[in-house]
Amino acid sequence: MKCRKQEEKAHRVHWEGKYVEGYIPWDRGDVSAGFRLFLEEGVFPKDGRILVPGCGHGYEVEALAAAGYDVTAIDIAPTPLARLQQRLQARGLEARLVVDDLLAWQPEQPFDAIFEQTCLCAFPPVDWEAYERAAFRLLRSGGALLALFVQTHREDGPPWHCALKDMQTLFAPTRWDWRKSWPPQPMHTPPLEEIPWMLIRK
Ligand SMILES: C[S@@+](CC[C@H](N)C(=O)[O-])C[C@H]1O[C@@H](n2cnc3c(N)ncnc32)[C@H](O)[C@@H]1O
Repeated sequence: MKCRKQEEKAHRVHWEGKYVEGYIPWDRGDVSAGFRLFLEEGVFPKDGRILVPGCGHGYEVEALAAAGYDVTAIDIAPTPLARLQQRLQARGLEARLVVDDLLAWQPEQPFDAIFEQTCLCAFPPVDWEAYERAAFRLLRSGGALLALFVQTHREDGPPWHCALKDMQTLFAPTRWDWRKSWPPQPMHTPPLEEIPWMLIRK
């Protein structure tokens, strides 16, 4: 059986390779429709700390920093974070960028909100419970998981289909309050879409 360290290395090599090769079909080159909606709805905490897991090139991280939010982003692949850092620097913006494994990372303090965009769907369903445990650990009690649940309606992945009934089992009501949802938002590749949900960590 592989330990988490070996898995982490395999994941790092896999994802870093995609960015180095330039095979990144998920990359929208701009912020997503779901992110714009969350921003317009004012759901990001103005005085809180926001985490963006598996941020990739991090257009949303850059937009949050530009809007004055306190934002931290984590990705297992160093290349997209180096590119994001260059863009932030060029604009005189600040965000904390962390190259690490989301499932193992232990920050000093929990966050007030997590913006989940195409990170969960990048993990195979066998790893989803570990993602839920990480999200629970990384948020303070009362913190918000601002999730865009990817709908592919396919059996295979990635991206893996995040059916709402599976999400409601994964983010169980004993640990999460399913507070509010919005209409599905288009993704980069039609007919893929994302359902925005705000969950509050109990
Ligand atoms: C499908 S991409 C989405 C990137 C970004 N959220 C976007 O919308 O463009 C998934 C991202 O998760 C990152 N990732 C995969 N496994 C990870 C892990 N264990 N810890 C942190 N990041 C991870 C990958 O490097 C990749 O950037």
